[in-house]
Amino acid sequence: MKFKLIFPTLLLFHTVGFNMSNGVNEMETKIDLLLKKMSLQDKIGQMSQRNGADWNYNGVKAGKIGSILNEVDPKKIKKLQKLATEESPHGIPLLIARDVIHGFRTIFPIPLGLAATWNTELIEKGAHISAVEAASIGINWTFGPMMDISRDPRWGRIAESFGEDHYLTSQMAVAMIKGFQSDDLTKPDAIAACAKHFVGYGAGEGGRDYNTAYIPEQLLREVYLKPFRAGVEVGVETFMAGFHDVNGIPSSANTYYLREILRDEWAWNGLIVSDYNAINEMIVHGYCVDGKDAAQKALIAGIDMEMASGDYENYLEDLVETRELDINLINEAVRNILRLKFKLGLFENPIVNADQFPKMVNEDYLKMAKQTAIQSVVMLKNEKNTLPLSKNIKNIAVIGPLADDPFEQLGTWTFDKNIEDTQTPMDALNEVYGNDLNIHYSKGLATSRSTDDTYFKEAIQAAEKSEVVLFFAGEEAIITGEAHSRANINLPGAQEELIERLSETGKPIVLIVMAGRPLTMGNILDKIDAILYSFHPGTMGGPAIVDLLFGNESPSGKLPVTFPKVVGQIPMYYNNKNTGRPPNKDNFVHIDDIPVRAWQTSLGNETHYIDAGYKPQFPFGFGLSYTKFSYSNLTLSDSVIRMGEDITISAVIKNTGHAEAVEVVQLYTRDLVASITPPVKELKRFKRIQLKPGESKTVQFTLNTGDLAFYNQEMELVTEPGTFHIWIAPDSDNGLQGKFEVKK
Ligand code: NOJ
Repeated sequence: MKFKLIFPTLLLFHTVGFNMSNGVNEMETKIDLLLKKMSLQDKIGQMSQRNGADWNYNGVKAGKIGSILNEVDPKKIKKLQKLATEESPHGIPLLIARDVIHGFRTIFPIPLGLAATWNTELIEKGAHISAVEAASIGINWTFGPMMDISRDPRWGRIAESFGEDHYLTSQMAVAMIKGFQSDDLTKPDAIAACAKHFVGYGAGEGGRDYNTAYIPEQLLREVYLKPFRAGVEVGVETFMAGFHDVNGIPSSANTYYLREILRDEWAWNGLIVSDYNAINEMIVHGYCVDGKDAAQKALIAGIDMEMASGDYENYLEDLVETRELDINLINEAVRNILRLKFKLGLFENPIVNADQFPKMVNEDYLKMAKQTAIQSVVMLKNEKNTLPLSKNIKNIAVIGPLADDPFEQLGTWTFDKNIEDTQTPMDALNEVYGNDLNIHYSKGLATSRSTDDTYFKEAIQAAEKSEVVLFFAGEEAIITGEAHSRANINLPGAQEELIERLSETGKPIVLIVMAGRPLTMGNILDKIDAILYSFHPGTMGGPAIVDLLFGNESPSGKLPVTFPKVVGQIPMYYNNKNTGRPPNKDNFVHIDDIPVRAWQTSLGNETHYIDAGYKPQFPFGFGLSYTKFSYSNLTLSDSVIRMGEDITISAVIKNTGHAEAVEVVQLYTRDLVASITPPVKELKRFKRIQLKPGESKTVQFTLNTGDLAFYNQEMELVTEPGTFHIWIAPDSDNGLQGKFEVKK
């Protein structure tokens, strides 16, 4: 048996990175005392997290369980906490965990939709509402936010991500953590957040879930680690290691990531939990011979708590007794677990008093959910100002499998929803416009995946009677999210066919897409007059969309991820490298332009597809509005700055149209020459501004040379002198461009 004793640097951990106030000392002393009293079995009990269906009161009473996930019956939770604190050997309360991903009872848009708001304030408020609702039944730990960068829309879990960019993801994740954890974890309505899945889970090959990732160190540091680092800086209490393996090492046993980077380099002393069964799955990965081997490797790597599989429970005792594992590793893990329980105030107040909490899904929460849904919608097309709909319209056709489906519009990970709370677009249309409009409704297709054309006739008749067709398309919740990767990301089922048939009526078609990922829409784009992309918009999706359709609100969402034209373009993201042969409109050669029997040639010599070009369908950061914004007067405070100095960049943004609206103004930079080839653009800042028709505002950003830093070959974070381009822009493909120099 191969084994290695690790003598962690970690006995010092509880002092590192901590404000050494008396409170902290006192807490660590309490932990010391508890640890002294606890037997090895008691300690292992703390390190075991049991699933909802898999715990029993006796186990809790005997101190064999430290945490429970997926138990949401408040009475049972109360009884469990009572047993744990009053009858278990050391009276240690339980961590009660749940995936509260984009809402508990009040459901907000899926995280990808949340990211489309580019509104951190709103995200923080929404996460706080989720925390309050979850905490009211006794939950004290959520497994969110997911901060995995995803450059692959085939991956089902892109729905749970904040998209492809590390800066936007970091901003969103930080806001969510603040919302969940509050400014004081002991508040009854604060819950611990979890940064997951450490690290690179979104980089799985081919977008297949759980898949192997290969991430070179420079890319890891430049992209994948950054949101996690931001989470650490804002005080995220827990981390979850991923299911996947990176560069050949399963995340549950990745000593380099978990110990060297997270613990040592970042000096973070929170709780690390494994993913569900992931420790045991290391056997299937071909990395461990059996559960004992898996338990040993996971603990050596730094997993404090095992979710679901029982390898810690079954083998840690033996491993310590045979001296294959150092007891200090167990002590350190239990210390991290107990610390969180102290920080949450669970020893003092293990039982939640539901009466202290506001009603779930109350008016204020619904307002916030609606506001968030409105801001998450991205308008991708609006030919001939089809939208907003004219007030004079009398007949509208409402067609599509997602027009009136209170279940599907909530999206993935919504275990605790109450479907009756959902307001669908049909509900909202009937309620607000039911008296003024003739609404001709047809589902068109039974589900988003259906290929049965039974309702086509009815749908076409509805269109024929109407002045405009609202087609609610997309994906059902269950074909998105975990384990639901798709190889083809067109609208599923016969939706494209139905759109085709509807377009033959000649009526303008507005496509409203509820989906968990970017969909490829090239086949039907020219049949559609306007597109509102709403992702899965949550409980208040209906009223939000209806307000947008009728112009009570102007769309302001911007894409947090690139939309490819076809799957074959993936991976496609805005901050790619330039290559030695970058494509552009002058050198691009389309397949149809290649003469038959042409001489062997490298064509225009660029990095493109001859059949799909080099541009995406819609770029990162893109989104239209009911007004137009002009960008002018780009001004830089200096043309040359010295290392360590700031530069201020500003531009004037004017609302030149007729609707009051919000614009998300984006700041991008490009390092022209560096010792590691730089990306062609990088998002550095963004600001949401609201402008009345005719109004203009100067938007100003400040960057320090530190904001231009990157990881060099030695993995040092450096800013190199040289020329930088800068854009103040409405999206990643446009904008006002300037230039400055950084000198030593
Ligand atoms: C597996 C998922 O990967 C993780 O994100 C989630 O928190 C756990 N299951 C618990 O449900």
